[in-house]
Amino acid sequence: MSVFAGLAREHRLFAQLARQCERSLAHDEADARRELTATMRVLLPALVRHEEVEDLLFRDPAYAAQKNVNRILAMVNAQHNEIEALRSEIEALLQDAERSAFERLKAGVSIFVRKLKFHLETEENLLWPSYNNLESRSIRRSLAHEMGEKVDDMESEMKKRS
Ligand SMILES: [Fe+2]
Ligand SMILES: [Fe+2]
Repeated sequence: MSVFAGLAREHRLFAQLARQCERSLAHDEADARRELTATMRVLLPALVRHEEVEDLLFRDPAYAAQKNVNRILAMVNAQHNEIEALRSEIEALLQDAERSAFERLKAGVSIFVRKLKFHLETEENLLWPSYNNLESRSIRRSLAHEMGEKVDDMESEMKKRS
């Protein structure tokens, strides 16, 4: 599997998990907390790893040197930072069930889900196509194998929980 096929597969799984979060938000507090905790336990660590792979890929100087790429990269980096901040906030809220207001958790999760979906679209529609024009692909190859194994792990983790 190429590293982009791996990233695309992960995006599909993230979108699935995001939809799962949206469904959980409609449930009562006890169910919603339990479901969100279970979903986030799969989603958040996988997302951190995913963004690390992307950082390696997109830091490729051959990529950054391409025309018009800087603007897209700056946008995607800003999205990564926003998502990262929300991720730590949600982790803290889920861990501190007693003190965190359910309303705050709900608000945090719905912003997170919205930003995540928009981020996936930005990468798929703007960032990836420009990368695919590149000649230099050595980083891709070295990441591809590891990527495939991690996605398999995430998929089986999701199956266990569904
Ligand atoms: Fe990303
Ligand atoms: Fe991504």
